[in-house]
Parts: sequence; C-alpha cells; structure tokens
Amino acid sequence: MCKTVLYLIAIIAIITSCSKSEKTYKIAVSQCSEDIWRNKLNEELKMGTYVHNNVELSFASADGSDEKQIEQIHQFMKDGMDLLIVAPNQIATVSPAIDEVFDKGIPVIVFDRKTNSEKFTAFIGADNFEMGRLMGEYIATKLKGKGRVLEIMGLKGSSPAIERHNGFLNAISSYPDIVLVASLQGDWTEESAMKAIKAYHGDLSNIDFVFGQNDRMAVGASKVLSKLPASHHTKYCGIDGLPGEGNGLASVRDSILEASYIYPTHGDEVLQLAMDILEGKPYKKDNRLMASLVTKDNARVLLLQSEELTRQGHNIDFLHEQSDNYLQQLDTQRVITWMAVGIIVLLLIAIVLLYRYHLNKVTMQRERVINTLWNIPVEELPAEPAEPEQPAEVAESGVVKPEPSEPTVDSRFLARFKEVVEARMSDSEVSVEDLAADMNLSRVQLYRKVKAITDSSPVELLRTARLKRAYQLLATTDKNISEVAYDVGFTAPSYFTKCFKDEFGISPSDLS
Ligand code: FRU
Repeated sequence: MCKTVLYLIAIIAIITSCSKSEKTYKIAVSQCSEDIWRNKLNEELKMGTYVHNNVELSFASADGSDEKQIEQIHQFMKDGMDLLIVAPNQIATVSPAIDEVFDKGIPVIVFDRKTNSEKFTAFIGADNFEMGRLMGEYIATKLKGKGRVLEIMGLKGSSPAIERHNGFLNAISSYPDIVLVASLQGDWTEESAMKAIKAYHGDLSNIDFVFGQNDRMAVGASKVLSKLPASHHTKYCGIDGLPGEGNGLASVRDSILEASYIYPTHGDEVLQLAMDILEGKPYKKDNRLMASLVTKDNARVLLLQSEELTRQGHNIDFLHEQSDNYLQQLDTQRVITWMAVGIIVLLLIAIVLLYRYHLNKVTMQRERVINTLWNIPVEELPAEPAEPEQPAEVAESGVVKPEPSEPTVDSRFLARFKEVVEARMSDSEVSVEDLAADMNLSRVQLYRKVKAITDSSPVELLRTARLKRAYQLLATTDKNISEVAYDVGFTAPSYFTKCFKDEFGISPSDLS
C-alpha cells in the first residue's frame, strides 16, 4: 500500500513540476554607474528575457566607484552566477576582480568599457576610437580646417574616455590650423563638465567647437561657456544620441548640440550573446555595435523613430505582463487539477483497501468459527485464560508432560451443538426449534448463545456444516452432486450448487 501511494505521489510531483524542468541561468549585470544610457540598456536586457524565459537577471550599479564595483562583483560570486556581464568603471582597478570571476570558470561578457586583461569570454560594444575620430573629422570639416577646439573628457582611466580622446586626436592632427585649446577632465556627468570649465585657468574665449565625450558633458559645457565673453558662436557636440526629451537627440533637434553620435546600447544583443555562450552555441569574441552620426538633418526622424520604438516597447511590456499572468493562472490550475486527481486516486485506493480489509476480516471470522466447530477436535479448543494453571506433571522419564487443557463451558456447549447439527443435518426438514429441543433449550436461548459465541446464527452454522460435509463427500466418495445435496439436507440440487459456489468459490462439479 505504502509503495503504491509513494509511486502515485512521485508521479504527481513529476507531472506538476515538468514545466519547470528547464535550467534557469543566473546572469549578473555589474554596471559602473546609473544614468539614462545604462537604464536604457538594463531595460533592453530585461526585455530580452521575454525571448529567453529561462534567465534570471540580477543588477548592481557601482555609482562610479571602483571599490563598490569590486565589492559587488565579489558578492555576485558569493551568491552564485552562471555568467557576468560587466562594464568596468576604470580599467586598472576593476580588472583584477573580473579576472577572478573568469579564473573561476564563470563566463564574462565585457560591454561598453574594457578591462586591461584578456580574461573575458567576449566583448560587445561600439568602437570608441572610431567614434572619437569621426567626431574629430566632423568638427574639422565644419570649421573648414581652422578653429579653436575644446575637449571635455569622460572619467579618467575608463576605456571609452581614453579611446575617444585618441580617436579625436588622430582626426584633428591632420588639420594643422585646428587648435586643441585643452582636454579637460570630466567624469561623464553634466556637473563634472561644468566644474572642469570653471576650474580651468587658461583662455577659453573664442572657442569654436566643444567636443564633449558624451552629450551630458557637452550640454554641461554649454551651460557654463555660453556665459563667457566671445562664446556666443561656440558649437557643441557630444556622444550617446539618446532618445527622450532633454537627451541627445532632442538636444540636436533643438540646436543645443550641433551633433551627436548614437552610442548603441542593444541590451537584447548583449543577452543573446550571453545565452549563446551559456547554451554552448557558436559566438564571436569581439562584437562591434554600429553607431551613427546625428545632426539637425536626421535628429527629428531619429527621435520620431525611437519614440515609436518606445511605444511598441510599452505594448510588448503590456502583452508580456498579460501572458505572464495567464501562464501563472494556467500553472496554478494545472497543479490544482493534478492534486484533485491525486486525492481522488488516493481515496479510491483507500476505499479498495478498506473493503479488502473488511472482506478479510469477515472471511477470517467465518473460518475461525468453522474451524472451531467442525475441523478442530473439541479437546483442542482453547481453555479460558482466567482458569488457574495446574502444575505440570513430571513423567517417570523426567520429561514434562503437557497438561491437556480443560474444555471451557462455551467449548463444551459448541461441541454439543456440533454433535446435534451433525446428527440432524441430513434431515432437510430440521428446524432451529428441533436443534434447540435436542439441546434442551428454547429456540431463542439457542440463537442467543450460538450468536454470542460464534457471531453466527444457528441456521448459518447448520448451512456451513452441510456445505463442509458436502465438500468432504464430493472429494472422497463417488456420489454425484444430487446425491450429496440430498445427503446433507438440501431439497434442491440447483440451490445446493449455488450455495456451494458462494461458500467455496468453486462449483461442486469441480470436485465430483
Ligand atoms: C553612460 C556613459 C555614457 C558614455 C558611456 C561610456 O554611463 O557615461 O554617457 O557614452 O558611459 O562608457
């Protein structure tokens, strides 16, 4: 019984859990800072999980602090992750922590910013040198090869700041009349650009073009520089080209910036790369994302397009939420259904087992009575436990002779009843009154006493005795079924056959 129930529970558990059998990958995302560019990327990563629903993303932002990022990477390692996606704040300081992850055998995707080692699985991001170079070319062309230029650099020691600077220098170095007045140090924030300009003691008058290494710093520069003398004609350009009011695209549309460069986030592609690595599919180690220049000519169109994409994104979010809810409901319903099926099956098993137990009990009781009455000699009937034990008699040989137990009042009564029944059973006319009379009892007295001792009525015992005798006769003599039926007091052989079958589960013809 136990085994059956255990198998059943196991089957139900397997069925209810089979939809969860797919492995869930834990992907940790370590962001160097929190800003609109990184928020966009995080949202795209989350949206990527609509396609890969076997992914669990965990995000951490270091707020521009190397120490914090190192700590967060160590925490990710403690918590356990299948893959790390990381944008290191500064190259030199954060790289060793990333190396540790890689050395542990955990795949690492470096995105947007680089490390100073080869210990990573893949890189994905735009070409920052090329972007700096293209911005240099753009500015030099706009200035027709002549003018005063100011650069505001991103966070010191971060790879895009170094590469954009190198690319920019590479481009303007071909223009001898372009003067790079200064490369001021910012940290990617608007405030840092404002602070850097205010702190500069050199001549910042008559700047023709400012190259902010990102849009936020370019806008910050414009806020301070525009207040200085002879700066009304200064033009500004940056990098990122983000959608949304107040960001790069809108700033170009509104002529706050002359140009920007879309620095792609492409979180969905980053997640796809992660899944290819985790699922053992082919992937490229170096993945370059395409960037593109934004000017007044295309800013409006690009803005409209990205607004449309944002709108569609919201629709997808909504649909995803709906389908998530629906799937959850379905899951719950399935669990409830299987639990109901399980309970019904368990109940059925319990009913069958109880029924079988009951049948067994009844059969055993009958067997006991019949054995007691007709198969076991009266002397072997058990003595009543209350009677005091007699000391065992020791034989001359020294062997202890078992004392035959004294028949009890009940067993003596039953023995007598057996004699009466056996003497009368061939008489088909015999009644309970006759049997009672033979025992000097009234019909009621006989009934009560027999019922109390055997839990069967005198008629039932008479019938059992007849059938047992019939069994003996059929098995040991040549008498046919009718002869035996009459011999044991049945008046109709067909009724005898039915009773015989009920009693022994076989037909009398099986024995004759
Ligand atoms: C966002 C950001 C961008 C910049 C990039 C460089 O955190 O500051 O503005 O283009 O990082 O990594």
